[in-house]
Amino acid sequence: MGKLKIGFIFTNRSLYDILIKTFVFHTRGSVYMKKTETALVLSNNKLTEGIFDITLKCPDIAPLARAGQFIEIYPDNGANLLSRPISICEAGADTLRIVFQVVGKGTALFSNLKSGDKVRILGTCGNGYELKPGSALLVGGGIGVPPLLETAKRLIAAGNDVTVVLGFRSGSFLSDEFEKLGARVHIATDDGSVGFKGNVVDLIKAESLTADTVYSCGPKIMLKFLSIYCEEKNMPLQVSMEERMACGIGACVGCVVKIKDETSADGWTYKKVCKDGPVFDSKEVCWE
Ligand SMILES: Cc1cc2nc3c(=O)[nH]c(=O)nc-3n(C[C@H](O)[C@H](O)[C@H](O)COP(=O)(O)OP(=O)(O)OC[C@H]3O[C@@H](n4cnc5c(N)ncnc54)[C@H](O)[C@@H]3O)c2cc1C
Ligand code: FES
Repeated sequence: MGKLKIGFIFTNRSLYDILIKTFVFHTRGSVYMKKTETALVLSNNKLTEGIFDITLKCPDIAPLARAGQFIEIYPDNGANLLSRPISICEAGADTLRIVFQVVGKGTALFSNLKSGDKVRILGTCGNGYELKPGSALLVGGGIGVPPLLETAKRLIAAGNDVTVVLGFRSGSFLSDEFEKLGARVHIATDDGSVGFKGNVVDLIKAESLTADTVYSCGPKIMLKFLSIYCEEKNMPLQVSMEERMACGIGACVGCVVKIKDETSADGWTYKKVCKDGPVFDSKEVCWE
């Protein structure tokens, strides 16, 4: 379906400070709405080394959340840093929870946020997963795990059987929260410190795990091998792709991925992760 945008309101404080107050767009037959909001930090806890867990009060944006969507967070230190995309880990009636890893300037700034601080956010962004009835296998790798928590919560609330496979280099985080929801949880670690020693795809093969639908988020290499496995087993797989983003709102081409397109001469076209994704049908993606 074509993309319909309405109601743009720009301020002109700087190139990266363009605010889209509200807009609506259509993708995959659904209507999505984005708003900006000054969110209140309710809590910020260190989950494990380098991983932070923030709950934001944002009554305008939180009710819009779908599992697998993300928000853009504006690092407000006057340095005009671009907004940073972070997945929605959990959504409440007026709160959003995010879990992120400190990798650079923006995430380092967010890790210092304290209860009572305010932070500007844009959301909700992207399409999110299409939640299907039937058994579900959720596969997360590293910092791709957080968006699967809200996904598991919604699938379980809708009465579906949920199995979760979480992969980490070493140790684990959030796994107990999936268990509390009632999901069956399997953990794989590269170093064998927790659960199965090896990667998530090897664990899935070893345990012969199957489901009506597979939902995944994690490193591209993990998604690629999971995609090969799911295709062999004829299991539909939705992958959440992570690309570096600039504008985060579809206005540049900073986040494109190659998507199969029979109508183009090359057999593929570029799609924007921030706007057309981040979730794609794995069969659409050109894995290279
Ligand atoms: C849709 C989406 C959802 C995301 N959800 C989460 C989340 O829930 N939790 C979380 O911790 N992170 C998430 N990320 C990644 C997060 O956006 C980046 O880690 C963050 O923008 C880095 O900002 P920074 O200023 O700290 O680092 P920068 O100073 O900008 O970069 C530091 C390093 O991180 C690398 N980097 C930056 N962005 C990415 C990226 N998208 N993928 C891979 N490497 C990157 C850079 O190449 C560089 O090496 C998500 C990204 C996308 C696109
Ligand atoms: S980040 Fe600009 S188009 Fe996606």
